[in-house]
Parts: sequence; C-alpha cells; structure tokens
Amino acid sequence: MTGLTLTNLKKTFEKGTPNQKLALDRLSLAVEKGDFITVLGSNGAGKSTLFNAILGKFRLDQGKIVLEGEDITHLKDYQRALNIGCLYQDPMRGTAPNMTIEENLALAYTRKASKSFFALNRRDSAYFRELLSGLNLGLEDRMKTKMGLLSGGQRQAASLLMATIAQPKLLLLDEHTAALDPATAAQVLDLTRRLVAEMHLTCLMITHNMQSALQMGNRTIVMDRGRIALDIAGEARAQLTVGDLMRQFQATSGRALDDDRILLSPEKAD
Ligand SMILES: Nc1ncnc2c1ncn2[C@@H]1O[C@H](COP(=O)(O)OP(=O)(O)OP(=O)(O)O)[C@@H](O)[C@H]1O
Ligand SMILES: [Mg+2]
Repeated sequence: MTGLTLTNLKKTFEKGTPNQKLALDRLSLAVEKGDFITVLGSNGAGKSTLFNAILGKFRLDQGKIVLEGEDITHLKDYQRALNIGCLYQDPMRGTAPNMTIEENLALAYTRKASKSFFALNRRDSAYFRELLSGLNLGLEDRMKTKMGLLSGGQRQAASLLMATIAQPKLLLLDEHTAALDPATAAQVLDLTRRLVAEMHLTCLMITHNMQSALQMGNRTIVMDRGRIALDIAGEARAQLTVGDLMRQFQATSGRALDDDRILLSPEKAD
C-alpha cells in the first residue's frame, strides 16, 4: 500500500527578489507504507524544506501530496499534524519544557485519541509508565519531572515517544540525533529503529551520517539542489559502502561527499 506520494513538488523562496531560491525542484517520491527512508544531502539541498512542505508550513508553487490515499496538499499544518509526527535536532521544539514528562505524553496522546486531556485516568498513566520504562532510561520513575530538566538524550527519547504515541501515518525525523554525543546518539537511533519497527511506521529520517543512513531503514535517498540525486534500495543498498555512496554521488552531481558531512554545495558556500 502507498504511504506517501509526492508529485512534482516545487518551492521557490523569496520569489522575484535577488535572494530567490529554488528549494524544491519538481521533486517526486513514492513511499510505501512501512518504508523507512533515510535522507542525505548537502547543507541547503532542500531536505528540511521537503519536510516543511509535507507538514504544510508554506504554500507550494506546485505539486501534490497524498498521505495514505488522502490528498493533503491543501490542508492546514495543524490538520496534517494529527497524522504526522516530527522530531528535530533541538529537543525542545515540539515539547513543553515547563510541563512534566507525563503531561507532555498526555498532550501528545490526547491530540489524536478522541479523548479530553482532563479525562485521562490511572490506566492511561500506567500506559505512559510502561512506554517510558521501555526506553530503559529510568524515566518511568520521573514522570513528574519537567521536560526541560532532562538531558538532551533523555529529551530526544521522550520526544520520540511523544511523536509516535498517537500512531502517526508518517514520522519525520530532521537530524534528531545531531546534537547528541556519539554514544547517546547511538542509543536514540536504536530506539528509533525499534519504535518504527514495532509500530510499523512509515518514516523519513534526515541525517548527515552516511553510515547510519545506510544501516537504518530500507531505502536511502540523497538530495541535491531540491531534487533527488540518488535513490537506493534493496540488494543494491545492502551491498553499498559509504565509499560507494560517495562515488555514486560524485558521478551524478559532480561534487564530492565528505565522510561524515556532505561538503557544502557551491551555491551555499557563496
Ligand atoms: N523560509 C525560508 N525562506 C527563505 N529561504 C529558505 C527558507 N527555508 C529554506 N530556505 C532556503 O532553501 C534552501 C534549502 O534549505 P533547507 O533548509 O531545506 O536545506 P537542508 O537540506 O535542510 O540543509 P541543512 O543540511 O543545512 O539542514 C536553502 O538555500 C535555504 O537557504
Ligand atoms: Mg535541514
């Protein structure tokens, strides 16, 4: 079944000014339900813009977005948010730092479930506790702790629960481990892998780490200047090394890839 279909997405920022920028250049992508796609690309390639287009953060010049059979192209961002979970590099984006972990989970949960925030009962609380204990971070005993007091890794783990608790049709992860130390980033990636698999989520994950891009998920796309330069899945992907990926990108785009960060694209380096 088709999870997400993007057809000819085009977005120009600051049209008609000297800063005019074509950020999405007639981009098309068909995502199967349950696909977990990792997204690579240089700074300014259009990765976050692609996510913002899906989230309805701006009006497209043209294009069509269909999520599990529903045309959402003209829906408002808050209408789409019911079905799309997202997580960013900054863990405080999308959570309320002055509310407790439990309150944050409850908010995320009731947003989708046809339930009032004030009607939450002990059984819901037990459910939140169970989800938190699955993180293996001891957060189940800190449900009354304010979100803002958690470490970066704890917050990203808890935020991941919030983004997925309402079983979204799509999960968008925009460099969600980029601000964490390597060991904590690995933990949050493990958790990501587990949650996406257990909940059978359709997921797009932006990363600058080519190794994790190839290890996570079932398909990798590389963006370049608002388009998809490479799209690799199946057997070809299973065999692919980071070195191969760098060579393939160089061959299609004419530019080099760095080992961990793709080198700045010329237009962004200006
Ligand atoms: N709201 C905006 N207004 C004007 N220009 C924008 C806006 N958002 C993005 N852009 C421009 O669109 C291009 C793509 O930006 P985008 O943030 O999508 O890149 P990215 O691939 O996410 O890069 P990074 O790896 O640095 O996060 C860039 O040239 C950027 O400056
Ligand atoms: Mg970005």
